[in-house]
Amino acid sequence: MKMAADYSSEGGRATGALTVLGLETSCDETAASVVRLSPEGEATVLSSVVHSQIDDHAAYGGVVPEIAARSHVEMIDGVVRRAMEEAGLTYEALDGVAATAGPGLVGGVMVGLSFGKAVALARGLPLIAVNHLEGHAVSARLGQPVAYPFLLLLVSGGHCQLLEVRGVGEMTRLGTTIDDAAGEAFDKIAKALGLGYPGGPALEKLADTGDGARFDLPRALLGRKDCDFSFSGLKTAAARLAQACETDQQRADLADAVQTAIARQLSERSDRALKAWAEEQPQRLFVVAGGVAANRTVRTTLQATAEKNGFAFLAPPMAYCTDNAAMIALAGAERLRKGLVSDIDTAARPRWPLDEYSALNDPTHAPGRKGAKA
Ligand code: KG4
Ligand code: ZN
Repeated sequence: MKMAADYSSEGGRATGALTVLGLETSCDETAASVVRLSPEGEATVLSSVVHSQIDDHAAYGGVVPEIAARSHVEMIDGVVRRAMEEAGLTYEALDGVAATAGPGLVGGVMVGLSFGKAVALARGLPLIAVNHLEGHAVSARLGQPVAYPFLLLLVSGGHCQLLEVRGVGEMTRLGTTIDDAAGEAFDKIAKALGLGYPGGPALEKLADTGDGARFDLPRALLGRKDCDFSFSGLKTAAARLAQACETDQQRADLADAVQTAIARQLSERSDRALKAWAEEQPQRLFVVAGGVAANRTVRTTLQATAEKNGFAFLAPPMAYCTDNAAMIALAGAERLRKGLVSDIDTAARPRWPLDEYSALNDPTHAPGRKGAKA
């Protein structure tokens, strides 16, 4: 990162609003958005275009990296053009261009980051390389003003973490998954139940007609006092039970049991983190973000846990729970406001822990496939 003095809080530009184009291509959504950040820190989404590749991957039951990268190449031009048109702006109105630089499928990340670099070079704009997870971390600010610091539960297809968020780019990880992410568990169990991809929304729909009370699913890491998660035992048990289901009603009952079990684990670990937070911090705000935050049972369970501990609870608007570029544009604008811009030769990163210090120093989560990914 280098400092751009004229965008910092001391610089002349800091008195005005910042308008930033954001690009997101780290998984199976090609997305572009224009966001305006007021001097007071309020975000206005001027446009948010998301092209989902679900149809391209559906036949394979999951995201195929090569297909994703190729599709991003085909779509990015048109998606960015639409985002600029819907915002009603020309490139002259932009103060910067932000692009996801990781973590994610590196072929896709390279497409958005290269496009962002091209715009930055052609228009003489600063480039802001954004960590995709930092985008999720600020996403609740797209719906309403959210003051720092807050406790964040980030639950998506690739990540499941509890984080203390003190400001943009200032985060400490309090807990993470030691195996699968919550969204991954939703997706894999949905697949075992014969549901399509992405599994989370499909499983939620099936669970609406089920009653999971008769299933006794395993509860992970019960003896531990930390804030870590584990979903692989649940996944294995649920996959075995799915094979034994004979009727649609049985499948719906199992879906309900799985959804409840995932929500319960998220809530139990959050409860520990909330209690520890309350001892040290005066501001009691709990935020949930990421694709799994779109799940109604997860939201209501977490809200109850937050309220029980005397915390306010916030979640992003539904459209900004799953991957989008508005959150990347906002994270970029907040970085730009602080004068944090990137070198034009910034590389795409398949793995990029939000809190690199914890990731490197916690032996349980050494920077290998599982630790750094999570
Ligand atoms: O944040 P996201 O769009 O992408 C990542 O950064 O991973 O999250 C996608 C994940 C998928 O695993 C998807 O199944 C899950 O979020 N998801 C849901 C729901 N909507 C999306 N899981 C449960 N219930 C939902 N309604
Ligand atoms: Zn995401």
